Amino acid sequence: MISILQGKKIVLGVTGGIAAYKAVELLRLLVTGGAQVQVVMTRSAQEFVTPLTFQALSGNPVHLGLFGPDADPLEHISLAQEVDALVVAPATANCIGKLAAGIGDDLLTTLILAATRPILICPAMNVRMYENPVVQENLERLRQRGLAVMPPDMGEMACGAYGSGRLPEPAAIVETLAGLLSPKDFQGYHLLVSAGPTHEDLDPVRFITNRSTGKMGYALARMARRRGAKVCLVSGPSSLAAPLGVERLMVRTALEMQQVLLERFPRTDALLMAAAVSDYRPASFAAGKIKRGSAEMMVNLTHNPDILESLGALRTRQVMVGFAAETDDIQAHAQQKLERKKLDMIVANDVSAPDSGFAVDTNQVTLLHRSGVVEALPLLSKDEVADAVLDRVATLLADVPK
Ligand code: CTP
Repeated sequence: MISILQGKKIVLGVTGGIAAYKAVELLRLLVTGGAQVQVVMTRSAQEFVTPLTFQALSGNPVHLGLFGPDADPLEHISLAQEVDALVVAPATANCIGKLAAGIGDDLLTTLILAATRPILICPAMNVRMYENPVVQENLERLRQRGLAVMPPDMGEMACGAYGSGRLPEPAAIVETLAGLLSPKDFQGYHLLVSAGPTHEDLDPVRFITNRSTGKMGYALARMARRRGAKVCLVSGPSSLAAPLGVERLMVRTALEMQQVLLERFPRTDALLMAAAVSDYRPASFAAGKIKRGSAEMMVNLTHNPDILESLGALRTRQVMVGFAAETDDIQAHAQQKLERKKLDMIVANDVSAPDSGFAVDTNQVTLLHRSGVVEALPLLSKDEVADAVLDRVATLLADVPK
C-alpha cells in the first residue's frame, strides 16, 4: 500500500529524555510506512536507548557525532541536503534551547541548522520544565522561524507528575509528519465530511443500523486535513479515533446527523457525504424495553429524510459529493442517485465485494461526474481512494468563486 511516506528520506533525531524509548516505535512506524530513515542520536540519548536498537530497525548505521574515527566531518551537510523532512522526538528543553539560540554543537543541531526541508519538533519533558517561560519562548521562536512544533500530550509522566509534557503517541507524530509532507492544495477551504452508520432506536436497548464502520469517511477527513483543509467530521457511532487536527462531532441518528450538517453546511466549501444513513427509523420509540411476545412481531418503520437532498436545497457555492453503496447494477444506480441528489460527483462501490465497502481497508470505486465522465479506479487503500476523490474535489473547487 502506497503511503505518503513511501520512499521519503527522513531524519529522526533522538535526544536524551526518558521518552527516547518511544522513538523506537516511531522509527518502526516510519519504516513500515516505507520511509528511509537515518537516525541521529545525541550523546545523552545514548544513555537511554542503545544505537543498536535504532540501527537494527532502520537498517542503517546510526549517526552519533560530528567527530571521531568513523565520523564524516561533512555528514551534517550531506544529510541535510538529502532529506525530505526531519523529526526530533523526543526534543529535550536543552535541544530546543540550542536550536532557538542557533547553537550547533553536535551532529543533530548542526544538521538542523543546515536543513532546508520541513522540521518537526516534538517536545517531551517534565510539566514544570515545559511550562517554564524560557522553554515556551524558545518554542515560539522555533515556530516563528517556520519549524513545526507538536504540542505534547497531557498525562502522567515518568517522574509521577501530571500535566503537559508527554511525548505524543508515535502514530500521531507520523500523522503530523505526513501533513508536513503533503501538498497544501486545500489550504483555506472548509470541508464537511460525514461518516459511519446511524443508529435508529427501537427501545432503550435496541436499534437498527448497518455495517458501515466509518473507515472511508475518516480517511477522507484525515487526508483532507493533511492537505491543509479545515475539516469538520460528522460521525455516526464508530470505534475509530478522531483524526488528528479534525473537528469531530458525534451523532447517533439520521435526524441528528441532518441537524448538525444543516447547521454546518452554509460555512462549507465542499461536502463529502460518506455516511451510511439509515433510510428508515422505527415509527415509534418504546420508552421501556420491548418484551418477548408472540412468535411474530411487526415493527413499523418511517422514512428518514434524504440528507443530501435537503442540503442540496440550501446550496449556494458548495461542491457536493455523494457515495453510493450498491450490490448490483452499480453504475446505473449510482447514476440515478447522482442526478436525483444533484451532485457534482458520486463515488460508487460494490459493498458485496470482499475487498471493497464496509469494514475493510481497501476499496474499489467508480467515480461518476456530473459532466458524464466515468472513471473506474483500481483496488486501492481507503487513504488512496480518499486522495483520488480529493484530487477531483480540488479541481471542482478551483472553478467555484470563493
Ligand atoms: N444519503 C442521505 N440521506 C439518506 C440516505 C442516503 O444523505 N437518508 C446519502 C448517503 O450518505 C450517500 C448517498 O446519499 O452519500 C447515497 O446513499 P445510498 O444509501 O447509497 O442511497 P439511497 O439514496 O439511500 O438509496 P438506496 O438505499 O435505495 O440505494
